[in-house]
Amino acid sequence: MQLKQISFEPMNEVHNKEVKILKKLFNAIKNREKLEDIYDEFLKDVETHFSFEQKLMNEYGFFAKIPHKMEHDRILNELKQIKNHLDEYENLEKYFDESFIPWLNNHIATMDTVTAGFFSQIGVKI
Ligand SMILES: [Fe+2]
Ligand SMILES: [Fe+2]
Repeated sequence: MQLKQISFEPMNEVHNKEVKILKKLFNAIKNREKLEDIYDEFLKDVETHFSFEQKLMNEYGFFAKIPHKMEHDRILNELKQIKNHLDEYENLEKYFDESFIPWLNNHIATMDTVTAGFFSQIGVKI
């Protein structure tokens, strides 16, 4: 899984880290392992990822910060619900394959791309 690289490097770093954890989670699902710990690690990472972007959007007054945060909130809600279904391996495989991963790719190619363009244009330094 190769994510689109965008024009604000700190966001790419956050995304690349998430993909690593996502791969670990996906392997654990395929191998029918106990998922509690890896799922918590993944969920925490997604929360850190989203709040990193939201903090910067607020700080620098990004014009689409509200719809961007709404997308984050929607997917985070789904991921939290899944915590109660970690023994349903086939559904999990299907969810990540057909829903979360396509969503993440699309989100990065749209919302995150525009947001990164804004941050790099105004010269945000981390
Ligand atoms: Fe992102
Ligand atoms: Fe985002």
